[in-house]
Amino acid sequence: MSLAPVDFEYLRHLVKTHCAIVIDPGKEYLAETRLATLVSEQGCASLQEFLRVLRRQAFSGLHRKVLDAMTNNETWFFRDGNPFTALTGLVVPELMKRRETERQISIWSAACSSGQEPYSVAMSIRENFNLPGWKFSILGTDFCTTILDRARAGSYRQMEVNRGLSAKLLTKYFVQQGLHWQLKPEILAMVTFRFLNLAEPWGDTIPPADIVFLRNVLIYFDVETRKGILGRVRRLLRPGGYLFMGCAETTLNLDDGFQRVQTEKFVCYKLKGPEKS
Ligand SMILES: C[S@@+](CC[C@H](N)C(=O)[O-])C[C@H]1O[C@@H](n2cnc3c(N)ncnc32)[C@H](O)[C@@H]1O
Repeated sequence: MSLAPVDFEYLRHLVKTHCAIVIDPGKEYLAETRLATLVSEQGCASLQEFLRVLRRQAFSGLHRKVLDAMTNNETWFFRDGNPFTALTGLVVPELMKRRETERQISIWSAACSSGQEPYSVAMSIRENFNLPGWKFSILGTDFCTTILDRARAGSYRQMEVNRGLSAKLLTKYFVQQGLHWQLKPEILAMVTFRFLNLAEPWGDTIPPADIVFLRNVLIYFDVETRKGILGRVRRLLRPGGYLFMGCAETTLNLDDGFQRVQTEKFVCYKLKGPEKS
């Protein structure tokens, strides 16, 4: 049965209001695929029937499950490779010079999904800067609560460790447990996870950061939401701090508080202004 426009509109509005994700008109198939499990779990005969059940209720745990299901959690270890080369080859060494006295560097993976991004950062740090006296704190946040539970567990299927992780790092930092690979405590302990809706005011949930990974998430938002989030990231970054974005994302025409830094194969963004803390 095809989805009535009014029901699809309801879903688009629900998702946009609560997590700022824009579902374009004509993307009914996306709802069909992402919500299929919830539809059958609820014993509904169709997506249309399921959405009508939702519409009759006040916001509940079921609506929350719909929002989680509508997020795209696609991620993998060392996604795109080059950002991690830039991190260890340029950005961290530069910040270590600047933070020589306090010996502390904070990295935030905003929209961290199931954790592969912050854990890739942790492994990169461990491999390259395992230095006494230095503290690297890594925070991962996401809107999707179910995916955050997976991130905290640090347990990955074979297919997931096959994506982006070298055999060397797999055997060094993971232990095989049946069909899964469990991250060792030394890497798990480097990352903390927290819920955060990027599209709503953050209050003081996120501490000032030296490096922010904001990758492959702004693409789901409209221009105003992107501007709002970039403004908040700019205010949160410490002097001389860096922003890493996805390959299809930029600060251009959205926020002029960042200066584009071209590394060998990657573009990152450095906070403009005085570099002293
Ligand atoms: C495609 S994944 C990107 C993961 C990782 N950054 C990467 O590049 O591999 C996008 C993530 O953004 C999260 N997300 C979507 N809307 C969000 C919001 N309003 N606030 C915080 N996270 C959000 C989703 O739950 C999902 O895990």
